[in-house]
Amino acid sequence: MRICLIGCGYVGSVTGVCLADLGHEIMIVDTDASKVAQLNSGKTPIYEPELEELLQKNHKRISATTDTHTAVLNSDITFICVGTPSNPDGSINLDFVLSASHDVGKALRDKSGFHLVIVKSTVLPGTTAGPVKDVLEQASGKKAFVDFGLASNPEFLREGSAVGDFLKPDRIIIGVADLRSKQVLEELYADFTCPKLFSTIPVAEMIKYVSNAFLATKISFANEIGNICKKQGIDTEEVFKGVGMDHRINPAFFRSGIGFGGSCFPKDVRALIARAQELGMDPKILRSVTEVNEEQPLKLITLLEKHVPDPRGKKIGVLGLAFKPDTDDIRDSRAIPIVEKLLQKGATVLAYDPMAMGNFKKIFPTVNYASSAKDILAADAVLIATEWRDFEELDYSGKIVIDGRRVENARKGSVYEGVCW
Ligand code: UDX
Repeated sequence: MRICLIGCGYVGSVTGVCLADLGHEIMIVDTDASKVAQLNSGKTPIYEPELEELLQKNHKRISATTDTHTAVLNSDITFICVGTPSNPDGSINLDFVLSASHDVGKALRDKSGFHLVIVKSTVLPGTTAGPVKDVLEQASGKKAFVDFGLASNPEFLREGSAVGDFLKPDRIIIGVADLRSKQVLEELYADFTCPKLFSTIPVAEMIKYVSNAFLATKISFANEIGNICKKQGIDTEEVFKGVGMDHRINPAFFRSGIGFGGSCFPKDVRALIARAQELGMDPKILRSVTEVNEEQPLKLITLLEKHVPDPRGKKIGVLGLAFKPDTDDIRDSRAIPIVEKLLQKGATVLAYDPMAMGNFKKIFPTVNYASSAKDILAADAVLIATEWRDFEELDYSGKIVIDGRRVENARKGSVYEGVCW
């Protein structure tokens, strides 16, 4: 198929490149001309393992442009993959989705023949068949589900393993309201052997939020239990090993630590809370998930103060700034509140991350950045905020180490405290 994708962030780049690898003709559209040029020169605008190799391998089938009109006219389907950032009140900002929809709609006005528009961006139930449909219809002068197709197909890609997640998903969720759209999506995903769930569009949109909210809930639950375990001298990891053996529960996403960050979990939980509140409800569990996640990183500081009672003027090392290992992404990273608090307390922060220092410097330009993980060990105490594999190799002997992510070797520090263990 000839497929157009709007937005070349994580979702658009990964989806586009993987679909090219499956043999489709791909056109990626972005308003940022430098990202478009990057893609056309065989470089991915984001870091994701395997992606650049796959882009280069399939370069004949992938082109990028800033021109939505031409891309839509020359394709059969369009995936909207632009970002949906949070508004200050937690609700989601649809500006990018609606402006992409407007551009696609304008192109549809000039297009004869069936075209399917699929929303892959994470949007709350009612968005695709509501504002997106309205904007598409207005700009195109055509009718959704009749003159052109419209569907929802949320993604479940994890940063760092997005290529594998796309090519071998647990399931594919497809929200449709008309037969033609359903048939196109059946054909697109025909070679995927995983279960495919066809649902209404709002159900598909809600599945995405509930999946992320549930995983975030598992993590906050594991952290709350971890806090209770620590007070009793019980190893929480052992506890969850046993708990996860129940097939009704499953062991994944029970790693206790300093909480979840990234571009999805915090934002999606906030958006679901905002939606529930709009509906006049008080989503108690979701609010607690967020509350535990906000308190958890600061526990590292409390533990630090047990061993370094006044961090003022002390050199405190922070190992790991990315929201998780193997990425340079610091969005909602738990290292952010930790560094903020250390600075507030007058500590001299020395930070290191194998990939994320460039991004971290943009928000914390005054922090001292080390050129290697080893250099961090010269600090008066070390906090571990991300479990990069390299951190297992360090010699922690004689150091004060406060560990937020369970780096086993760090236990060799002369003082060692885990956040939940
Ligand atoms: C997540 C979802 O997994 C993915 O399906 C969705 O589409 C986007 O959001 P991602 O943000 O890339 O993917 O990261 P993920 O690997 O899920 O981890 C998110 C955060 O949770 C990280 O900060 C991680 O450190 C934390 N985490 C994860 C835990 O603290 N404990 C765990 O057991 C698992």
